[in-house]
Amino acid sequence: MPLPAAMDPVPLFLAPMAGVTDLPFRLLARECGADITVTEFTAAAGLNRDDARSWRRLESDPRESPFIPQIFGGVEEEMVGTTRALSSVADIIDLNFGCPAPKVCRNSAGAALLGDPDRLVSMVRACIAASDVPVSVKVRLGTGSGPNTALNIAHRLEAEGILRIAVHGRTLRQRYSGDADWHQIREMVDALSIPVIANGDVIDADSARRCLEVTNAAGLMIGRAAIGNPDIFRRIKSGLGWSTSPAPWADLEAQAMPGGERAAIKLWAWRRYCELAEEAYGDGRNNHLKRHAISFTKGIAGASKMRIRLHSTLEAKDLMHTVDEFLETSMLGSSIIV
Ligand SMILES: Cc1cc2nc3c(=O)[nH]c(=O)nc-3n(C[C@H](O)[C@H](O)[C@H](O)COP(=O)(O)O)c2cc1C
Repeated sequence: MPLPAAMDPVPLFLAPMAGVTDLPFRLLARECGADITVTEFTAAAGLNRDDARSWRRLESDPRESPFIPQIFGGVEEEMVGTTRALSSVADIIDLNFGCPAPKVCRNSAGAALLGDPDRLVSMVRACIAASDVPVSVKVRLGTGSGPNTALNIAHRLEAEGILRIAVHGRTLRQRYSGDADWHQIREMVDALSIPVIANGDVIDADSARRCLEVTNAAGLMIGRAAIGNPDIFRRIKSGLGWSTSPAPWADLEAQAMPGGERAAIKLWAWRRYCELAEEAYGDGRNNHLKRHAISFTKGIAGASKMRIRLHSTLEAKDLMHTVDEFLETSMLGSSIIV
């Protein structure tokens, strides 16, 4: 049911997530209502060396427009070289200054650069100079050690000419603990002229509304809540009265037994993910399939038992079929757990 007092629509972003936001998942998220998608982050070092696996992560499709690859790195020359190479294929290039992973921060990349504003700004300036397309950035609220540098950095990057900034409302030190601080995002929104995209802890229409009310951001970026649940974009849009057209899973949902609706939506999304993955990868390599299989079944009764089977399923086709059968059985309310 729509929430009262509609607010103006803003674009919904699928957050970049390593191991999750592969091309088929990004296309699926768009079919589910995401307006903008960003690739998982890829190391500039690998791309610079022409590592085939790194470049494969940055594949796109004409249906994904704008195409926004995200890169990270601690070496300015590598970031610049990669930006230059990408700028002939990308619509926008996104630079990651938000990753808290120790193996990234150890190399003075990701969120670690928030502790060295001069180096970060110099890197962004050089990337903008090397790029034929706009450059955006994703940051956290500083490192959490010492003063919060995020607002100062954002001001400087605005002056350098970045297109927009996505802000995850946590510090590097927090990683994923505590609540995202939407009030600090609001301070950045009020202080900057470029669009600020709010990120952190948006999980449904209600939190999307509250986040927008607090931050007044130009867009919302949704990460963990979309894993295994790409329909979140549609749920937010219909919950906020931004979309009234029938959901693409409406027919399947109508066939569900009472209580099986969630499984029906997941089944639609899983089948569509598998179709898009087959288009993108053919019969070959899909390193993320098992992870998606687990997340698409999470929260459905009997999933943990079924997951044990998934772990020993090696063939992609078998895995797709096992998940399909499980979700269909759940949707139809059968008590048989496959
Ligand atoms: C599994 C996983 C992988 C992630 N990978 C990336 C990444 O590649 N690039 C990035 O900028 N952020 C990455 N993030 C952070 C998310 O983009 C997002 O900022 C964070 O999850 C907070 O948003 P949420 O509360 O909506 O999940 C990742 C997060 C998760 C959970």
